[in-house]
Amino acid sequence: MSTPLLQTADLQLAFGAVVVADHIDFSLMEGERLAVIGQNGAGKTTFINICTGLIRPQAGQVFFEGKEVTRLSPRAIALRGMVRSFQLPQLFTEHTVRDCVRLAAAGKRGGLGLWTPLAEAVPADEVEHVLEMVGLAARGNEISGALPEGQRKLLDIAMALILKPRLLILDEPTSGVSTDEKHGLMATIMSALDAQKVTAIFVEHDVDIVSQYATRVAAWIAGRIAADGTPQQVLADPEVRKNVIGE
Ligand SMILES: Nc1ncnc2c1ncn2[C@@H]1O[C@H](COP(=O)(O)OP(=O)(O)OP(=O)(O)O)[C@@H](O)[C@H]1O
Ligand SMILES: [Mg+2]
Repeated sequence: MSTPLLQTADLQLAFGAVVVADHIDFSLMEGERLAVIGQNGAGKTTFINICTGLIRPQAGQVFFEGKEVTRLSPRAIALRGMVRSFQLPQLFTEHTVRDCVRLAAAGKRGGLGLWTPLAEAVPADEVEHVLEMVGLAARGNEISGALPEGQRKLLDIAMALILKPRLLILDEPTSGVSTDEKHGLMATIMSALDAQKVTAIFVEHDVDIVSQYATRVAAWIAGRIAADGTPQQVLADPEVRKNVIGE
């Protein structure tokens, strides 16, 4: 069998009495589109934070492409190809859309030389390519902080894609946008991921979006994975229907 792209072994973490990672054994194969569902506070973001090095677990291990990354820094993990976006987009809000992408890329290359103009530090065609993929090519000169939320989300994803990830973990890519906009946003994100052959995990509360865009679903309840399988299986699971979907 081939090596999982991402694997965790017995991850454990509690904040005081609140258990947020309860012996999590998980693995993800290349090419999967995994939706993570779960109520507020179930530990979804914490799981992402542990995998990407932002929080250290109290016990357990994280492996990326078969190599342990548990105690590496977020930057070292991103350099290996596991990149995440945040629930609230982390943009350089006073910079233009194009400069945000350039700054993200320059960060990967080890920062800017003191005398290198930002525009020369990163190949222009790479920057334009990712902006086109997320549909922001015409907005490159706009100040990122002034964009509507859906486009801020797309910019955040462009800033992740410029790092050429193998795995992109998206924490609620459709939160903060209207129901009408969600499908267009997801379709844009998914076509960009397809074009770059990026494996993806996305946290999502909307069951319609999950059914349409995920190949697999994992349901978090109180720090553990209560169900993991195809969207049909997991969304029909009685415990998930009661405790996650809230029926
Ligand atoms: N740094 C921290 N210190 C203490 N408690 C924390 C910390 N980070 C998260 N928590 C708590 O851990 C639990 C899980 O939080 P987490 O953010 O992982 O939930 P989530 O599933 O992402 O929820 P949401 O759907 O609201 O984003 C929550 O009770 C939260 O308050
Ligand atoms: Mg969260």
